[in-house]
Amino acid sequence: MLPDSHGFTTTADPTPRRAIKCVAPARVNLLGEHTDYTGGLVLPMAIPFVTQATISPREDGLYTFTSELLSKTLTLDHTDRSPARGEWSDYPVGVLRKLQERGIEPQSFDLHITGNVPFAAGLSSSASMEVASAMAMLALATVLLTIEDIALLCQRAENEYVESPCGIMDQFVIVAAKAGHALLLDTRSLTYDHLPMNKGRLAETQIVVCNSMVKHSVATGEYGMRRIESEEGQAILVKKFGVCDLGDSTLQQLESAKSEMSDAAFRRCRHIISDNARVRQAKQAMFAGHPVAFGQLMLEGHASERDDFECSCEEIDFLVEIATTLPGCFGARLTGGGFGGSTVNLVERTQADAFATALKAAYKKRFDIAAEAYVCDAVDGAMLRNADVLQVER
Ligand code: GLA
Repeated sequence: MLPDSHGFTTTADPTPRRAIKCVAPARVNLLGEHTDYTGGLVLPMAIPFVTQATISPREDGLYTFTSELLSKTLTLDHTDRSPARGEWSDYPVGVLRKLQERGIEPQSFDLHITGNVPFAAGLSSSASMEVASAMAMLALATVLLTIEDIALLCQRAENEYVESPCGIMDQFVIVAAKAGHALLLDTRSLTYDHLPMNKGRLAETQIVVCNSMVKHSVATGEYGMRRIESEEGQAILVKKFGVCDLGDSTLQQLESAKSEMSDAAFRRCRHIISDNARVRQAKQAMFAGHPVAFGQLMLEGHASERDDFECSCEEIDFLVEIATTLPGCFGARLTGGGFGGSTVNLVERTQADAFATALKAAYKKRFDIAAEAYVCDAVDGAMLRNADVLQVER
């Protein structure tokens, strides 16, 4: 048994058991939004929703994909290489394709998905499904990959098979998270640290996620547009200053290149560069155990997403604004891709339930929509949660 680069030791199980179950959590991002496709920093944590993938071997050369959550089922021949269908099954099928491209060909199987991750809430139900499926297929094939490899494989399934241009944050944290910690990930080098969330006064806080139940239909196309605009600004900074990407660019550099790029590219880059700086400051606030400082960074991050990145919406801005008026709230912001979805709030632990109730009531009154609120502590990612099945030592 050899430890991998993250200290996990692994052994392949030569005798696949029947009906292997693998689980993956959801995630919420605390800070560092839309920074993960331009080499920046992100600070997400895994939250206690779960996707469960149950895989059972077959002997007839077929792969089946079923889910009690989603109506359409799919049966594929093992030689099938058809493109995505626009169905939920694209996520696990995409994972299978990427495994096959690596030369990993799991024997025929039935894959059944269940779970409770809210859909279209900005909490990464798709990455959770990809990771749970990948773990189950790997366990069946008795192949072990590193954290990076699993996360990158799932991201490629989404980028290349589903054709959604996401970054690496969601898949990575869902694989690599650790209970009680946020994950600080450098998305250029894929190096990461688990940052404890219980230092000083932070031990007395909790994360409250509020699902607005709204997802504006522009979300998919707008995400791609923002990405293109950010990359346009990045290309100019790379050429002018020799930086690697926005991860090592400064606001001074951006300012001095302002006249060379569109206003949109300038503002997208200003959000990204300033959010990278906020993640660095958030790390210090976490070690200092300082919820006031952390909450302030969240509020600044939200303003930057709203005004510069323009990925918020009326409902989310309202939730953030009301949150800041409620007792015990240190900070609030939009989390995830945006254009609806969820807010993340840092709240005094003793006030968390009352905060959630008051926030939902104000939202109901304003929009006549029943928001959902989840009071969360950080949980383990899929690598640790499936340690027994994957034969990974913790
Ligand atoms: C979505 C994507 C991530 C990331 C966030 C924004 O969740 O899947 O890769 O870009 O949006 O931070």
